[in-house]
Amino acid sequence: MISEMKSTLFYSIVIVLCASTSCSNAQSMSAKKILIVYLSRTNNTKAIAEIIQNNVGGTLAGLELEKPYPENYQVTVQQVVKENETGYLPPLKTKIDSIEKYDVVFVGFPTWDMKMPPPMKSFLHQYNLSGKTVIPFNTNAGYGAGNSFQTVKELCPDSKVLEGFSITGGIERDGVYFVIKGEKAKKAETEVRKWLRKIKLTE
Ligand SMILES: Cc1cc2nc3c(=O)[nH]c(=O)nc-3n(C[C@H](O)[C@H](O)[C@H](O)COP(=O)(O)O)c2cc1C
Repeated sequence: MISEMKSTLFYSIVIVLCASTSCSNAQSMSAKKILIVYLSRTNNTKAIAEIIQNNVGGTLAGLELEKPYPENYQVTVQQVVKENETGYLPPLKTKIDSIEKYDVVFVGFPTWDMKMPPPMKSFLHQYNLSGKTVIPFNTNAGYGAGNSFQTVKELCPDSKVLEGFSITGGIERDGVYFVIKGEKAKKAETEVRKWLRKIKLTE
């Protein structure tokens, strides 16, 4: 009788321990300090950043440049192509206070020239994210994230880089600007939530 009770107690403890470790990732995530850094010219990537914040909390930081890009799309594309060729890192006006206090840093950007935009490269060069969890997200005109997620891994060699999220946003070339609104915003939120569960940021 006693030994039966002991073994029941033992298995109960095992079950409780297993259950608690299986969800420990999402649970412990809620105690982590989260920063959501994004670059956005026409607010699509910003909208995704806000959806992420609504679901996991954290601090939002939109990147601004000391010298903003021109309004004209074609002129901007030409400037970006040149910056990519020369490896120019445009100086940021945005300053992040005490980056060391964050455990998890989301980095969001549109695809530009099928790459990570130069200002996000500036951010990743300027701030030391080693030892942190880094999570990329992206919007694009339908051509995908290009090699930008690979660039995140290259610029954060000592970070744990999780699977990124990418979704179609605007098509500025064709005069299509902000689209993550109405039905599209609802669909985007569903997809973001699914991804956050997959990478175990939420349950
Ligand atoms: C300079 C520039 C270059 C772009 N290059 C690409 C590209 O190579 N591939 C693509 O799919 N979209 C490209 N786009 C479109 C953006 O990725 C897309 O509109 C995105 O949703 C914009 O995000 P935002 O509203 O946060 O600025 C480019 C946009 C700009 C301004």
